[in-house]
Amino acid sequence: MDDSTGSGRLDGESTARATATARGQNSGQNSGQGGGQGSGPGAIAPDGSAVEFYAAMPPDRDSAALVHGAVPPGAAILELGAGAGRVTRPLLDLGHPVVAVDASADMLARIEGAETVRSAIEDLDLGRTFEVVLMMSFLICYGPRRELLETCRRHLAPGGRVIVQRETAGWFDSAGPSEWERQGVRYRLFDVVRHGPDLLSASMEYRLGERAWVHSFTSRRLGDEELEEVLAGAGLRLDGFLDESRGWFTARLA
Ligand SMILES: C[S@@+](CC[C@H](N)C(=O)[O-])C[C@H]1O[C@@H](n2cnc3c(N)ncnc32)[C@H](O)[C@@H]1O
Repeated sequence: MDDSTGSGRLDGESTARATATARGQNSGQNSGQGGGQGSGPGAIAPDGSAVEFYAAMPPDRDSAALVHGAVPPGAAILELGAGAGRVTRPLLDLGHPVVAVDASADMLARIEGAETVRSAIEDLDLGRTFEVVLMMSFLICYGPRRELLETCRRHLAPGGRVIVQRETAGWFDSAGPSEWERQGVRYRLFDVVRHGPDLLSASMEYRLGERAWVHSFTSRRLGDEELEEVLAGAGLRLDGFLDESRGWFTARLA
C-alpha cells in the first residue's frame, strides 16, 4: 500500500473547508465539491485535488493489487473518483477493463486505455452494471455518504462487489501536525482542527521539487459501528475487509 503519509493515509487527498494557500508557484485555485479547496500550479479539480500533482505521482500498484486480489480475474471495474489514473493504469495492466469516472475533465484527460466519464459520482447513472465498483481515496469520508453509496449500488451487478477505502480509526485518532517524505514527495499536514471525535479539518501540503500544492479538507469518520447501517441505507450489506487496519471494506447488494 502506498502509505504516503506514514499515518495510514494514502496520500492526503481531501475535501476542504479551511482556506488553502499554496506555497510555491500558484497558478490554480479551486473550491467546490464536498467543500474541498486546493491551490497550486496547474488545474485544480472541484474537490481541491491538484491535477499536476496526481499526474506526477507514480502508479499506485499496491492498491491495484489489493483490488485485483479481491475480485475475479478480468472483472470489469467502475472506478469512481479515478483522478489522473494512478490506480486505473495498474488495474488495466492487471487485465481489468476500467470505466474511470471523475468530476474533473483535466484529471480524466491524463488517463489512457480506459473509458472515461466526466460526472459527479452522486449524479452518475450509466444504465449498466459492473462486477466491481471501486471508490477509494477516502471519498466516503468527504462526500455525501448516502448518495455516493447509492451510486455504487446502482452500478453493481448481481454477485458483484463494491470496494471502498475509508480513513482508518487510527488515522482519525492520531492525525496531527507532521511532515514526512515518500517517493520524492514532501508532505506536510498542518492546521489540524478537531471539531469532535469524528470530524477533522486539516490542510496538506505536497511539495515536489520546486512545485507545491495545498489541499484543505474536512473528513468525517465512518466507524465500524455505523458501517452496516450506512450500507443498508443504500441497499448494500457489509461483505468484509481487505486489510488489517480495516481501511478497505467490501459490500454486496443487500
Ligand atoms: C485525490 S484524487 C485521487 C484520485 C485517484 N483515486 C488516486 O488515488 O490517484 C480524488 C479525485 O476524486 C475526484 N472526486 C472527488 N469527489 C468527487 C465526486 N463527488 N464526484 C466525482 N469525482 C470526485 C476528484 O476530482 C479527484 O480527481
